Amino acid sequence: MRKATVLILMVLLVALIVYAFAQKEEKEMAKPADPAAELAKSVANGKMLFTDTALGTSGKTCNTCHMEGGTKAGKMGEMAIPAWDNLAPKYPGYFMLAKRVMTLEQVVQFCIVNPLEGKALAWDDQKLTDLTAYCASVKAEKKEK
Ligand code: HEC
Repeated sequence: MRKATVLILMVLLVALIVYAFAQKEEKEMAKPADPAAELAKSVANGKMLFTDTALGTSGKTCNTCHMEGGTKAGKMGEMAIPAWDNLAPKYPGYFMLAKRVMTLEQVVQFCIVNPLEGKALAWDDQKLTDLTAYCASVKAEKKEK
């Protein structure tokens, strides 16, 4: 074979390999995320944050007042804290403690700033999203018959 032919064949081969890789990458990038898995990840992270004292400065966690991940009723002084069941449709709604209508994110932020005595999170902070996702995911445990 002539040198020029070999060279042309090699260039073609390299071009083919580059093309194949580009195609593969494009396919992977186009692969849609699994929405249910992404939400589950957010809820799981929110559940971890629920028992994290680092959100505040009072030494308390969300779980101190919203016991057993919010599934058990508690008390703050004389104030009853009901067990949670499907909070998502409740907000936006009137939130007694703040004496105004709030979104679920705002309620979570309120509890971070007030009872936990923490610093407000940025509204686009993933931690706020995850905590809110967790709170919204809590369903009352099935009562024993
Ligand atoms: C010192 C106690 C205390 C701590 C700590 C606390 N909360 Fe609260 N939270 C309350 C009280 C009191 C209420 C109002 C009563 C109610 O609605 O449960 C409330 C209400 C809520 C509600 C609305 C519940 C409903 O039934 O409408 C959510 C959601 C909530 N808190 C989330 C959180 C999260 C998330 C954290 C941690 C970042 C947290 N709270 C930490 C005391 C606390």
